[in-house]
Amino acid sequence: MTEQRSTHITWHEGHVRREDRERLLGQRGVTVWLTGLSGSGKSTVAVGAERELVSRGHLAYVLDGDNIRHGLNKNLGFSPEDRSENIRRIGEVAKLFTDAGVIVFTSFISPYRADRDAVRTLMKPGDFVEVHVAADVAVCEERDVKGLYRKARAGEIPEFTGVSAPYEAPEHPELVLDTARESVEESVERLVRYLEEKGYLSA
Ligand code: ADX
Repeated sequence: MTEQRSTHITWHEGHVRREDRERLLGQRGVTVWLTGLSGSGKSTVAVGAERELVSRGHLAYVLDGDNIRHGLNKNLGFSPEDRSENIRRIGEVAKLFTDAGVIVFTSFISPYRADRDAVRTLMKPGDFVEVHVAADVAVCEERDVKGLYRKARAGEIPEFTGVSAPYEAPEHPELVLDTARESVEESVERLVRYLEEKGYLSA
C-alpha cells in the first residue's frame, strides 16, 4: 500500500451522480482490465473493442501501457516496485473513468496477481472485469511484433516479462481470450458480446 502523506483533506461530493452520467451516456461505466504478455494482443483487442463500441454510439476509451508510460508514468521502469506503482496509478485513473460512466479498456501486462487484485478491491463489484489475453510466451515470441523478445534473449532488455521476469496468470478472470487461436475480430466480438450480455451497454 502506498502511504497516505496528505493530511487535512475532505471528500467533496458533487451535485451530479454517476447514475446521471450513465443515463446521459446510455451505458454503465466499467473497467475492462486486459492482462497478458507483451505481444499477446491486448492493445489490438482494446482498440478494436473501443472502435466497435464507439461505432455503436457508446463512449469507450483505451488506457494503454506503452502510451501511459510516455506521460503520467514516464518516471517508472520495470522493477517489481515500479510495475506495482504503474498498476496502482492506472487502477486509480480507471476508477475515475468508470465513475465518469466511461467503458474503459486498460492494456497493461500487469504481471502480478496481487497488483491486479488490489485494483479489483478498489472498485465496486461489477466495475472491474478481468480479461486474460492468453497467448503464451512461445506464440508472443514467435510474433515478436516490437522485436523486444529478441532483444531480451540477447540480454539487451533486463527483467523482460516472460523471459527474465514473471507473469502470473489470473486464476478467476471474467473472460479468457485465446488470441493464439482466434482472430482479432473474434476476440473483439466475444468481448463486446460479454459486455452486452452483462448489461453494460444500457444505463
Ligand atoms: S507492466 O508490467 O508495468 O504492466 P506495461 O504494460 O506498462 O507493463 O508496459 C509494457 C510494455 O513496455 C511492453 O509492451 C513493452 O513494449 C515495453 N517494455 C519495455 N521493457 C519491458 C520489460 N522489461 N518487460 C516488459 N515490457 C517492457
